[in-house]
Amino acid sequence: MLKPNIHYRDLKDSYLFYHIAQKTKAYLEEHPGTRLYRMGIGDVSLPLCPAVIQALHEAVEDQGAKERFHGYMPECGADFLREAIAGYYGSRGVALSADEVFVSSGASDELGDLLDLFDRQSAALVLEPAYPAYVDANVMAGRRILHLAAGRENGFLPVPEEGLEADLIYLCSPNNPTGAVFTREMLRKWVDYANQRGAVILFDAAYEAFIQEPGLPHSIFEIPGARTCAIEICSLSKTAGFTGTRLGYTVIPKELERDGMSLHAMWVRNRTTKTNGVSYIIQKGGTAVFTPEGQEQIHRNIQVYKKNAQVLMDALDAAGVWYCGGKNAPYIWMQCPDGMGSWEFFDELLHKIQVVGTPGEGFGACGEGYFRFSTFGSPEDTKIAAERLLELLRGRS
Ligand code: MLT
Repeated sequence: MLKPNIHYRDLKDSYLFYHIAQKTKAYLEEHPGTRLYRMGIGDVSLPLCPAVIQALHEAVEDQGAKERFHGYMPECGADFLREAIAGYYGSRGVALSADEVFVSSGASDELGDLLDLFDRQSAALVLEPAYPAYVDANVMAGRRILHLAAGRENGFLPVPEEGLEADLIYLCSPNNPTGAVFTREMLRKWVDYANQRGAVILFDAAYEAFIQEPGLPHSIFEIPGARTCAIEICSLSKTAGFTGTRLGYTVIPKELERDGMSLHAMWVRNRTTKTNGVSYIIQKGGTAVFTPEGQEQIHRNIQVYKKNAQVLMDALDAAGVWYCGGKNAPYIWMQCPDGMGSWEFFDELLHKIQVVGTPGEGFGACGEGYFRFSTFGSPEDTKIAAERLLELLRGRS
């Protein structure tokens, strides 16, 4: 009889955001007609910007015109988008060749798919609290997972410790869920560690466009030595509102080799076998993000989310609650009041003020006692949620 992948037995019953959606749905079924203020999953509320919409329309027209119609797209991405992304890196001082950029249907899909490149006996290191898909994708693959705990004492930004034996290293900066951002010096420690050990860093840069403090690195490839030890995964979901449109990209330098094998060449082999590329229409829409007009428009949207962050931070300041994040990332990470557990606080917010957030425990055991708010809601909802939150927190003290 065929044996299933028994590693699924080691997973939690359901994925964090699915579980929250189920709990929220059950609440709405019990309280029909209730308005909820959703600040849980990091899903955008603003529509795609006009430059993208125009490019999407034009691409739809192309697909209806015999002379401009496109069939299969190149599996690793259309040259026009790969060149636009390489140009975006170039404008920030990071030199890439366009064929080092792989177009994907989104960072979360890619983070799982990339595991095909690595031996299942290798150990994956997750800095916790962490985006839960890093752990779950490796559990599914039966890979050994090492957890490096982060906390307030190290600003949620741990660096390699003596005796650490990691092969595959997940780094996310700006961090989901804490909003913390690695400095150049800290990233250099990880890059040096990975090069010395022969490990590979999977650098999740999905939130780079939210960095506002000058001098903080947006890409691992700003760090000397990263081209021989890192893969960068990025997404247009949060920067340009593509959560429902789906588009991302991955950078694999040609120098990146392990055991004499080029990870770049292996990924070309993987993509040409397992995908037929991302739709022409979506890639055209994505290319508009990298035009001067597109950049200006997406940054205007990002400012709206940053104002939301400020509204929430003001409420937490007024309540005297400890938090971090919100400045260089679209997430605020707060301490639950009165030593409450994070799921307990989730239930209290849902039932008493109809605000949905994400319990810290969902990001790993050391997230317990913390709670995450996404700042991607509408300004109207965020304002109401912040007022309700402040009133609830004041009522507890
Ligand atoms: C989050 O809320 O952590 C993210 O939106 C989830 C994701 O990007 O898949």
